[in-house]
Amino acid sequence: MATEPDSVLSGDGFAAVGSGSSSPAVAAQAAPIVATGRESAPDGGVAIKAVGLTLSFGSRPILTDINTEIRRGSVTALIGPTGSGKTTLLRTFNRMNDKVSTYRHAGDVLLDERSIWHPGVDLISLRRRVGMLFQRPNPFPMSIMDNVVAGTRAHKMVGRAGLRQVAEEHLTAVGLWHAVKDRLKDSPFRLSGGQQQLLCLARALAIKPEILLLDEPTSALDPNATESIEGLVRRLVPDITVIIVTHNMQQAARVSDRTMFLNQGRLVEHGETRQVFENPHSEETARYVQGRFG
Ligand SMILES: Nc1ncnc2c1ncn2[C@@H]1O[C@H](COP(=O)(O)OP(=O)(O)OP(=O)(O)O)[C@@H](O)[C@H]1O
Ligand SMILES: [Mg+2]
Repeated sequence: MATEPDSVLSGDGFAAVGSGSSSPAVAAQAAPIVATGRESAPDGGVAIKAVGLTLSFGSRPILTDINTEIRRGSVTALIGPTGSGKTTLLRTFNRMNDKVSTYRHAGDVLLDERSIWHPGVDLISLRRRVGMLFQRPNPFPMSIMDNVVAGTRAHKMVGRAGLRQVAEEHLTAVGLWHAVKDRLKDSPFRLSGGQQQLLCLARALAIKPEILLLDEPTSALDPNATESIEGLVRRLVPDITVIIVTHNMQQAARVSDRTMFLNQGRLVEHGETRQVFENPHSEETARYVQGRFG
């Protein structure tokens, strides 16, 4: 079936837009949170940066004066209560909000020091560089195999003969190969929700993004699949810069080098994960990471 190129590349045409799909907020954690990320976050320079980013839908402000730099080659967790603007911020980084008619922004987002809204920026190229996995799996209405290689094919990254290998490589990376290798021609909609999410992750990885935006990627996964995705995320860095939204404080502590805490559209704190969890600068952050609100 013909699919608009930027739908194939971004998944936007099939995405669960907006935030109605909130996950259960984190309740008080049973065990103290211990950040197990690397001792200190790598400093590979800035991958993407928000400068005075203020954003609204209609007259409603959603993000207020966000200034932040995402370190290249690291995993950054984006945490905050439901409705705080995490998905909106993530979607801004690859211009997914552009199609929302009521959306307005001030300030800027810079990728390689250049505005992502610069007239010379090609949206398809931007979304190849900045890939995204949505909270709800959104396979395309095509076979499992075609899903994985949709972006690779659209960007003409490999010839026809190489497509099966691309599919195998990325399905293996996400731990789905054995479950689907005999049904590559089947519809993805017969897969379980968790398997569909892994498929979408394989599709996102196959275009070899520089930055991968993950919006609660494991909320539909069982503990085994969650663990393997967390392991995969750790292996993606430093080649790929990852920003992961999660409501699971333990996951943020396990998987990330740096953590950003967003509350009511404000960036309250951004620092090394260990510092944010163990020695937060702000009382607001302390209350959230200790499960006292949210
Ligand atoms: N397309 C839209 N039009 C109008 N309002 C929107 C739109 N998308 C999001 N919002 C509003 O922006 C605010 C922030 O939503 P967002 O989805 O970014 O929150 P979130 O932090 O990701 O929440 P959750 O943890 O529940 O996923 C919410 O009040 C939401 O209703
Ligand atoms: Mg969200």
